[in-house]
Amino acid sequence: VRVGGRELRTIWRSSDGLSVEVIDQTRLPHEVFVARLDSVDAMATAIATMMVRGAPLIGVAAAYGVCLAMRDDPSDAALEVACARLRATRPTAVNLVWALDEMKRVLAPFSDAGPTRLEAAWAAAASIADADVASCRAMAEHGLPLLQGIGGKGSGRPINLMTHCNAGWLATVDWGTALAPVYLWHRSGLDVHVFVSETRPRNQGYLTEWELRQEGVPCTVIADNSAGHLLQRGEVDAVIVGTDRTAGNGDVCNKIGTYMKALAAKAAGVPFWVAAPSSSIDFGMTSGDDVPIEARDGDELRLVSGLGKEGGAQSVRMLAAATNVRNPAFDVTPAALVTKLITERGVCEASAIGLCSLFPERAHAS
Ligand code: MRU
Repeated sequence: VRVGGRELRTIWRSSDGLSVEVIDQTRLPHEVFVARLDSVDAMATAIATMMVRGAPLIGVAAAYGVCLAMRDDPSDAALEVACARLRATRPTAVNLVWALDEMKRVLAPFSDAGPTRLEAAWAAAASIADADVASCRAMAEHGLPLLQGIGGKGSGRPINLMTHCNAGWLATVDWGTALAPVYLWHRSGLDVHVFVSETRPRNQGYLTEWELRQEGVPCTVIADNSAGHLLQRGEVDAVIVGTDRTAGNGDVCNKIGTYMKALAAKAAGVPFWVAAPSSSIDFGMTSGDDVPIEARDGDELRLVSGLGKEGGAQSVRMLAAATNVRNPAFDVTPAALVTKLITERGVCEASAIGLCSLFPERAHAS
C-alpha cells in the first residue's frame, strides 16, 4: 500500500540486512513510526505487546524473529530456544506455530549451523512474507464475487459492510484478509461503505479506520454495542471479518466480539463471511472449543491511551487498579453462523467438507 506517498509493507528486513523493521502499531492511528528490532527478544516483545499484530503478520514476524536469533547463533540449540520463546508470545493465532514449524523445516538440513543457515533463514522468512501477500491478493479476487452478489454493478447505492477488529493490511504484510476484497472492489471504482467497530479494549477498529481512510474507502466508526442495532435495522448488507484460527470443522476463532456480530447477523438474515488464509486453518483441531483463548492483561481495560490536549501520547485510568476485570482476547463463532469462508484457493462452506474440498492434501494429512 501507499501511505503518505511511500510504498509500505508492515514488516521488512532492514537495508543493512542486520535487523528487521516494522510499523509500530501501538502508535497508530496517530503516528506512522517505524521501529527497528535487533534481537529475537525484541521481536518476541513486539508480538506480545502488539506492536505487530494480526494473525498472518504475527506468523511472518515470528519467522523474522528466527532470523534474528540465527544471526546471533545459528546452532540447533539456539533455534529451539528462539522458537520456544516466540511460540509463547501469543497462543491463539495458529499462524504463529505454522510459521515457526515452516522455519524449522527449512533450517533442519543446515546442520553446519554456519552462515548458510542464516541466509536460508532470511530467504525463508522473505518467502513466507511474499506468500502472505500472494494469499491475501488471491482472497481479494475470490471475495469479489461475493460483494458483486450483494451489490451488483450499477445497483446505484454503495454496499454497506461491517467489519470487526483489524483484518486489513496492517494485520498481514500487505492487502489484508477481510479487507482485501473491499480494496479491490473500491479500486475498481465501485461504491462501498464500511462500518468499523471500535473493538474494545485494544481498539483495533481505529487501525481499520486509519487504513481505510488512507485508501479513500468511506467508513464510519461505531461503538461495539451499536452493531446489533445497525444489523437489525437493515443498514448492513454483509459482515466480513478475519480469523486467528479456523478449526477443521469450520468454527472460527477471531477477536472478542466477533461471535456477537455473527449472532446478530444470523438474526437479521445478513451474510457473515470470514476470510481464512490456509495459514490460519488448524486441520488437526476438530472443533473451535479447543482453541486456546488468550487472556490479556486487565490493564487493557483499566487504562485507555490516546493523545492528550497538547497532542502527546497519554494513558488515562478508567478503573482503579484494584478493580476486578476479565480480558479474553478472542471468541469462537460456530461454523453454523458462518455463511462462507474465503480462502486463497476459493470460497467454501464453513465445514469439514468445504475445507477438504479446497485443501484435500492438508485435511488428509492431519
Ligand atoms: O489481537 P489482534 O489484534 O492480533 O487480533 C487480530 C484479529 O483478531 C484479526 O481479526 C485476525 O488476526 C484475523 S485478520 C488478519
